Amino acid sequence: MSERLQAAQAVLRTNDRGGYTVPTDRLYPFQWNWDSAFVAMGWGIFDEPRAWREIHRLLEGQWEDGLVPQIVFHAPSDDYFPGPEVWGVRRDPPTSGITQPPVLATATRRLLDRASDRAAAEAEAAAIYPRLLASHRWWAEARDPGRTGLVATLHPWETGMDNSPAWDSILDRVPTETTSEIRRRDTAHIDPAFRPRAIDYQRFIHLVDLFRAEGWDAARMLRASPFRVADVGTNAILARAERDLLALAARFGSAADRAAIETRLARAEPAIETLWQKAAGIYRSRDLVGGEILPASTSAGFLPLFGGVHRHAEQLAATLEDWLARVRFAVPSTDPAHPMFEPLRYWRGPIWAVVNWMIAEGFADAGRAAQAARIRADTRALIGREGFSEYFDPTTGQGIGGGTFSWTAAIDLLLAE
Ligand code: DGY
Repeated sequence: MSERLQAAQAVLRTNDRGGYTVPTDRLYPFQWNWDSAFVAMGWGIFDEPRAWREIHRLLEGQWEDGLVPQIVFHAPSDDYFPGPEVWGVRRDPPTSGITQPPVLATATRRLLDRASDRAAAEAEAAAIYPRLLASHRWWAEARDPGRTGLVATLHPWETGMDNSPAWDSILDRVPTETTSEIRRRDTAHIDPAFRPRAIDYQRFIHLVDLFRAEGWDAARMLRASPFRVADVGTNAILARAERDLLALAARFGSAADRAAIETRLARAEPAIETLWQKAAGIYRSRDLVGGEILPASTSAGFLPLFGGVHRHAEQLAATLEDWLARVRFAVPSTDPAHPMFEPLRYWRGPIWAVVNWMIAEGFADAGRAAQAARIRADTRALIGREGFSEYFDPTTGQGIGGGTFSWTAAIDLLLAE
């Protein structure tokens, strides 16, 4: 095995806390939802039982209504804010009260399809399948009660792209007062210039305080939240997850399950299409409070390809070329021509390996092999040069945020396959 593969595996083993993998030591000391889905796929390359264990441990945090929380607080740590006491969700294990982009069905299907231990994988996937079904039902019922085909996200942390410029105009209307005392820990681990600003955190925590006061009740949260967005990233990832769930349902589910998933998919595809912005050549998110399309083009706008919506693949390829004329490496998280593009600050410009992986899969599925190859080659080159960083500056390639990120290591393993 190459030194590089050994190093990627070592990152996952070092970040293993007993069946679950922390995103990185100190900065993120618990189990995160979408991180773990990518990480499970990475474990699947070299340790299948451990990959399944990752998913089971995440699902230990699943709520009765089907919600798969953004964070499962398996063990106490002072290294992270906001911890379980701020969320005030009384469960064992404690969890946060919001979710994250649903990659779990995609991870489960991939692990099953590629398993060398077929019998074990069938048994694992059969056990996980009802939990995935419950999770996707939750998305429809809790976040799209009007059956529009687009689910709502209620917090920037739910989008996974916390401080994206796409959310700026919406966050402007979120008050900055908090009842919880803000004691940030992230800036003790990482240069504050690379992280969200203080005012962003005030608004992030304002929303947490609001939802806690609403008792973490899904319907009340949806009504009360000033941040209510049809995030193109989440909706595209969910569409992909529904396709993967449908494939799992063909093996483990009932005809009624398959019909329900097909109905949701049939609603989602035309709804995602309403986010297409012809002049910009990309999909963008919609504010569900005011109804407007949000002004910033971000890397999430390529993800409908990953979700199986391929009709604008040619224009999306042209948009990618346009972006790449301005930066050295693919894919910046924000349009590099946008005035709010910041190449070093978290989701306002840097490259994220997991997003690259999904966009490359999308281009490949849509028959655009050249774009897929470019994105995969850049991702491999960046990791080869800088290590398993949290994210990378698209203008210089500099790795940022520390060098032992589980999901970056997982993507390196997937790309080396
Ligand atoms: C953080 O705390 O920065 C995370 O992105 C929240 O999920």
